[in-house]
Order: sequence, then structure tokens, then C-alpha cells
Amino acid sequence: MVAYGKMSAEESREELHRVQAQYAAIQARGLSLNMARGKPAAAQLDLSTPMLTLLQAREDCFSEDGTDCRNYGVIDGIPEAKRLMAYLLDDDPENVFVFGNASLTIMHDAIARCLDFGCLGSTPWAALDGPVRFLCPVPGYDRHFAILEQFGIQMTPVPLTDSGPDMDEVEALVDADAHIKGIWCVPKYSNPSGITYTDETVRRLARMECAAEDFRIFWDNAYCVHHLYAEKERQDRVLDIGIACVEAGNPDRYLKFASTSKITFPGAGVAALAASPANLTEAKRLCNAQMIGHDKLNQLRHARFLPTAEALAAHMDAQADIIRPKFQLVQRILDEELSGLEIATWTDPRGGYFVSFDGLPGTAARTVELAKAAGVILTDAGATWPYGQDPQDANIRIAPTMPPLEELEQAMMAFCCCAKLAALEALEA
Ligand SMILES: Cc1ncc(COP(=O)(O)O)c(C=O)c1O
Repeated sequence: MVAYGKMSAEESREELHRVQAQYAAIQARGLSLNMARGKPAAAQLDLSTPMLTLLQAREDCFSEDGTDCRNYGVIDGIPEAKRLMAYLLDDDPENVFVFGNASLTIMHDAIARCLDFGCLGSTPWAALDGPVRFLCPVPGYDRHFAILEQFGIQMTPVPLTDSGPDMDEVEALVDADAHIKGIWCVPKYSNPSGITYTDETVRRLARMECAAEDFRIFWDNAYCVHHLYAEKERQDRVLDIGIACVEAGNPDRYLKFASTSKITFPGAGVAALAASPANLTEAKRLCNAQMIGHDKLNQLRHARFLPTAEALAAHMDAQADIIRPKFQLVQRILDEELSGLEIATWTDPRGGYFVSFDGLPGTAARTVELAKAAGVILTDAGATWPYGQDPQDANIRIAPTMPPLEELEQAMMAFCCCAKLAALEALEA
């Protein structure tokens, strides 16, 4: 294939007509496909459905320490749920605080507590003179950005490289500005690029000089066990931020989050926080006014359904068997349709839920618009950037897990056609 940018004017015009005709044919099919959000497919949810019948009778409802899970109490979670969540969070059960059904809620409320009460005796962030700022590796997760926007916290984008956030930039920024109070990190199979932080990145985050003494790393390990391949050597691993922070002499710098949303049921899973003893004590004290205890029956169901690391690994292998062919299909179609045209690059992750696609500058919004008009809904262009503003208008998040394979194939063919059309239009302009 000749690169679009190297075509003669004549070749370029012919290609535009060819792709326009292809687009018209796709539009005529009246598709109605959705690749917008990273939701599990129904077949993945089916894997966890047997969990629903695990608690049938009174005698099923007691945790291993004898707690009656039908009743109030145990604010930080039953022991077996702490063990399960500790595994996801790379931590010891005693450092785990099990919450409700969503890690986003925990992150949201953790930020609210920092704003209202400060951290371990520091000035509440909301009481500072001037705005609070957060570093946001980009491309990143739109809901992280939405939380900050809602609280009026200013977002400073920093590039996400193949090894994690650009640490030279991060170090310079946090050293110079005491109002930078935190950074979002999705350290493993990042949303959307799928990259995993290197050990060196984790160590630099742990030891960097921060002007804010209460700087916090929001470590969202949402995809901690979400490998696409069962073989250990094809799975990414990430250094534990907790250990790195202790070794660096900054033991309270991190807050870790995870949930079973994409292990069992999104919206009906279990979520947890892991943190240093001091941070944990503070969180428990402040949460005491907020709740008496979370859903322990759900904790019990989850702990019985996934009682060991081996059971969890087998369950995730079964999940991977369902979604791996979808990721492979996405790579095959992108490769067949776009390789050599020099109009796009894309990631090929070994886990997680997304593929990150970069088109020519100025084409992402147009690609998404063209796809929508052809019946294919994609994540909004710009969503992977703070305030929904991608300065290059280049990045699009592809979410392949939800549609069945046949639909995904149609959606990806349509997507590639739209990306070509947008590129040809941009080159012509
Ligand atoms: C990075 C990341 N964090 C958190 C979530 C949501 O997690 P939860 O369902 O536990 O709120 C998602 C969902 O897509 C995600 O991609």
C-alpha cells in the first residue's frame, strides 16, 4: 500500500473516491453497533453467574470468623474478602479496606476526604490559597478526569509513554509546584493504551521530590489480573507501589484501588482500597460517619466463588479465552486495512480492555463522526484527555470486548474506512 501522504494528487483523488464509495456502501447497510465502553460481553458475565446461588440458606451466610453477613457491621470487610482483594491489590489483607460495588466511588470519596480534611493532618486541599492540581497521564481514563473536573481540581496532562508517565516531566512538575497534590496511575494494562509501568517508573514515582508533602499517587489497578494470555511469560507484572514507597521513605504517598467489576459483575462486584497503616486508620475513622458496613453478603459470595489465587487465575483465563479473539481480530483488521498508509498507529496490549488508536492530527473527531453516521458508536474523540480536549485531535479509544465477533468485525471494517476517509479529507485540506 502506498502511504497516503506520498500519493500523487491523481492517486489521492482516486483513493478518496474509492473510500467514499466504500463508506456509502457501509452506510447503506444500516448498522447499529457499539464499541464505546469497556463492558464485558454477556458470555463473560455468564462465567460468574453460578456465584449467585452460593448463598441459599441461613447457614451459608456466616463468614469464616462467624460474622452474620446478613446484619450490620464490619466496616472494613470480612476476612475472606480482604484476602481476595489483597491479592488483586498486591498487598497484605491487614492493609485492605473492602468497600462496596465500585472502585470509582472509593476514588471519588478519597479525593473528597483530601479536600475536606487534608491528609494525616495536612491543610485540607479545599482550604488552600489557589487551585489544587493533579497530573493526568494521557491518554487516560475519562472518568478519572470527570471526578477532578467535578471537584474543580485543575488537570495537567503529562504524556504516557510505553514505560509509564514521562517521569522527567512528572518529577520536574511535582518538585516545582506545591499545589500539585496527586497523579492518576493505571499501572497495568492502562486504560486505554494497555501499557504497564516499568519497575523504574514505579520507583521514580515513589522516591521523587514533591513540593506537596501530602502528594498522593492514586494507583488504580483496575486491570491487575486482566491478562489476555494464560502463559505467565506473556503476562505483564507491575512492581508494587506500596513496597516502593516504603523503600523510598515515603510510606504514605500512595492509595491503591481495585475491584472485581471486570472479574465478576460490573456494578455488582466488590471494590477495595489498600493503603499504609496511617492512611488506612484515617480512612476508617472518616468513613465511620458515612456507613455502618458494606454489602457483606456480596463479599462472601465473591470470596467463596474465588477462594484461592488459583481459582481466580482459572476464572481470568476463561475470561481471556472469550476476549482474546476479539483483540486479535482488532489487530488483524487494523493491520490489513491501515498498515503502510502512514495515517495511524495503535497499541497491541497483552491485557486490559482497550486498544489506543492515534490517527493523523485533526482526524479523530471526524472519524468518530463518520462512524456514528454509519451506525458505529465509538468513545467520543477527546475523551482520553482532560476536559475532553485532545490538542492533537488524534486519539480514539477502541473497546472491543462487548460486541460479538461478527459485529466487531463489521464495526472495525467501518472504523477503518472512516479513519481512511478522515485522513484523506485532512490531507486534501
Ligand atoms: C481504569 C479504570 N478504573 C476504574 C474503572 C471502573 O471501576 P469500578 O467499576 O470498580 O468503579 C474502570 C472501568 O472501565 C477503569 O477502566
